[in-house]
Amino acid sequence: MVNLSHGIAAESGAPVVESEGAWLETPSARIALPVIKVAEGPAGVEVDNLLKETNMVTFDPGFMNTAAVESAVSFVDGDNGILRYRGYPIEQLAANSSFLEVAYLLIYGELPTEQVLKRFSQQVNRHTLLPENYRALLNAFPKTAHPMAMMASAMSALETFYPESLNPRDEDQIDLATTLILAKIRTITSYVFKAMSSKPFLYPDKSRSYVEDFMRMCFAVPYETFDSEPELVRILDKLLILHADHEQNCSTSTVRLVGSSNASVYASVAAGIGALSGPAHGGANEAVLNMLNQIANGEDSVKSFVAKVKDKKDGVRLMGFGHRIYKSYDPRAKIIKTDAHAILDKYGSNDGLLAIARELEELALGDDYFTSRKLYPNVDFYTGLIYRAIGFPPTMFTPLFAFGRTPGWIAQWREMAHDPDTRIGRPRQLYVGQPQRDYLPVSERIMDENAKRIAAPRE
Ligand code: CMC
Repeated sequence: MVNLSHGIAAESGAPVVESEGAWLETPSARIALPVIKVAEGPAGVEVDNLLKETNMVTFDPGFMNTAAVESAVSFVDGDNGILRYRGYPIEQLAANSSFLEVAYLLIYGELPTEQVLKRFSQQVNRHTLLPENYRALLNAFPKTAHPMAMMASAMSALETFYPESLNPRDEDQIDLATTLILAKIRTITSYVFKAMSSKPFLYPDKSRSYVEDFMRMCFAVPYETFDSEPELVRILDKLLILHADHEQNCSTSTVRLVGSSNASVYASVAAGIGALSGPAHGGANEAVLNMLNQIANGEDSVKSFVAKVKDKKDGVRLMGFGHRIYKSYDPRAKIIKTDAHAILDKYGSNDGLLAIARELEELALGDDYFTSRKLYPNVDFYTGLIYRAIGFPPTMFTPLFAFGRTPGWIAQWREMAHDPDTRIGRPRQLYVGQPQRDYLPVSERIMDENAKRIAAPRE
């Protein structure tokens, strides 16, 4: 039996007074595990020497209970619905800041002064132009391509144009890659949008603000003047802020893992975009709208849909609900829900999707299936409705999430690269396969029925 105790003597249950710490008891050993202190949240138990001392490894599928890094970028308290970037509550940043200011905060650790912000914004805006032949790349995808695949490919391709920014050991090169990625991601996102509908790409206009010009590049045509609704620019800016970082989620962990091999920021962020595309992660915002449409089209009622979810038979989930960390209302969803009303009243298409979303939420929050599992709306539940009111189709929702998450990925990559404790990420496994066996020539092999079923390729 393995017995892990923290500040308590394992055998007796009596508190141990001599030192703060944790111990692991195995049949043959009792090992002290150093406890790592944290600023907030659960403390860490270091298991570095476990394999050496016990020939055992920890087993934690889905990393439910494993901290892989020490980080100062963002903080989430899932029980109390708290999210902070570099110590600043998300509510304050969403109400008062701008996306570029938040990007600076995440990446460099402090809010910029007026002068620094101006210089940073100018620097980013100066680099928003993409090389001409990049357009051919984005136009080469089939019209049916999902834009997230285009985004990931575009990010991978970006590094081929900037070899002077690839060295992960060179601070100037890291800074250059930071600026280039922040600058180009908005152009890439708008070009992906244009390419999907075979519309002409627009050049950036550096006299406009970052998000305002992104809107113009998405919705304007080259031969007409265009001014975005300031209210829509502001709400998009806010949504980008809300998505900018979220500690060690699936895509961020991917970015850090890829970066730990000394791969470039571009390669790491491209991998992060791939991780974000899944419907259990960033892809949920698109899935929410499909779910709402399914109900609006009469394929299901709110009640019958919720019944299907609870039934679990077909693996149907209430999309935009539940979160690995939040066991209460996601603070981002709270902010977005309020805004969704105001924006949809003014710019929405009045097709009842917001009412369906609210009805779903109300039904779920009054149902024991959801409350007993602590399933509440997450950031993706209401965002799609706002993106749609701005004018984006559902397939663009996750690319917008990726756009917003870019500063967080960069900040986390930089933290990883600067951390002296970083080693190449390389999880262990528990091997459950065949023991050693000898190779047989093909003429001598016999497969049992089970092996045939598992190993044979489909006809
Ligand atoms: N609808 C119905 N049941 C759910 C849902 C849901 N959305 N989410 C979790 N459950 C159930 C699940 O079936 C399980 O039940 P049981 O204990 O009876 O087996 C229990 O709740 C725990 O679920 P889990 O899958 O073990 O929890 P997790 O922490 O591994 O998964 C999640 C978290 C976000 C993947 C999951 O809640 C989910 O699939 N939600 C829907 C997709 C979604 O909205 N994703 C966006 C997440 S927030 C933004 C982001 O990270 O990109």
